[in-house]
Amino acid sequence: MKVAVCPGSFDPITSGHLDVIERGAYLFEKVVVGVFEKTEKNPLFSLDERIGFIESAIKENSKLSNVEVESFNSLLIDFAHRHKACAIIKGLRAVSDFEHEFQMAQFNRKLDKSIETIFVMASPKYAYLSSSAVKEIAKFGGCIEGLVTKEVEKGFRKVFKL
Ligand code: PNS
Repeated sequence: MKVAVCPGSFDPITSGHLDVIERGAYLFEKVVVGVFEKTEKNPLFSLDERIGFIESAIKENSKLSNVEVESFNSLLIDFAHRHKACAIIKGLRAVSDFEHEFQMAQFNRKLDKSIETIFVMASPKYAYLSSSAVKEIAKFGGCIEGLVTKEVEKGFRKVFKL
């Protein structure tokens, strides 16, 4: 079975992430979304919340029926091995993403060249979208409709007491 992993902090998952995951799910027989536990970015949402948002998005979208979600707290390449994945799927929004993604892809390739990193170009409508921008807009009460799922909107209302 052709399996890919799609890793990230997902703090929280955005419509842009879901677009990349959906396109990965079309290309592979199974996609395992890997939620990195010990992100250094001091997440707004707990690990359970970040996973819960992804689980509910999967349940609501029939195009994600071959997608699973799991946390990891290890090297990404080891997470990929555990799932017998042959590929890592990442989204690329702008040239500014490239340098960091290029470095990670090279490191991962050095660790195991049999696992290919595949980049999916962000759909134009999500090319500007990031979890950090959404967090900032939500914090100041701006409209984030369409940028995240309803569950994530609810999560923001709870955290920011909106
Ligand atoms: O959503 P993010 O924060 O850009 O995701 C970054 C992530 C989780 C994909 C990256 O930090 C990662 O792969 N971490 C796992 C540890 C690892 O393997 N590091 C070496 C790759 S350079």
